[in-house]
Amino acid sequence: NQAKLLSAIIENAIDGIITIDEFGIIEHINPSAQKLFGYTQHELIGKNVSVLMPEPDKGLHDSYIANYRRTGEKHIIGIGREVTGQRKDGTTFPFRLGVSEVKFTDRRIFTGFVHDLSRQKEDEQKIRSYT
Ligand code: HEM
Repeated sequence: NQAKLLSAIIENAIDGIITIDEFGIIEHINPSAQKLFGYTQHELIGKNVSVLMPEPDKGLHDSYIANYRRTGEKHIIGIGREVTGQRKDGTTFPFRLGVSEVKFTDRRIFTGFVHDLSRQKEDEQKIRSYT
């Protein structure tokens, strides 16, 4: 059963996986992403993905997506970027964000892959402090 296999892969993935509609509204968030950001899925489904980031991106993210809908210019889709996320408790952490666009016949969604970099960044800081 293909659908069951796919959902098992997403639910057990080590990286966070978040899907949004073309207006930035969260439709699905896997357990890894719930844990990383400190929310349950019920708290996030139906919310704007901008709740997961600090300013200035928080206030600009709707326009990032709107610009993409208008121009088709990709700044993160298919490229990836290191960005800062914000947890429910207000603390922030660095992660590698990958975004892809999924086109269905009647609508499109975006999938975001969240690879936590906080451990790696801490280690880098330690190494720098030795020198
Ligand atoms: C665009 C930040 C999460 C989907 C952008 C841009 C930034 C950004 C800075 C625009 C880049 C530019 O115009 O130069 C963030 C931050 C996030 C986050 C800080 C932290 C939570 C997500 C997630 C998704 C997503 C989880 C998808 C599920 C998009 C889309 C665009 C975009 C579709 C427009 C297309 C593009 O620029 O390639 N985001 N984002 N973002 N983001 Fe996010």
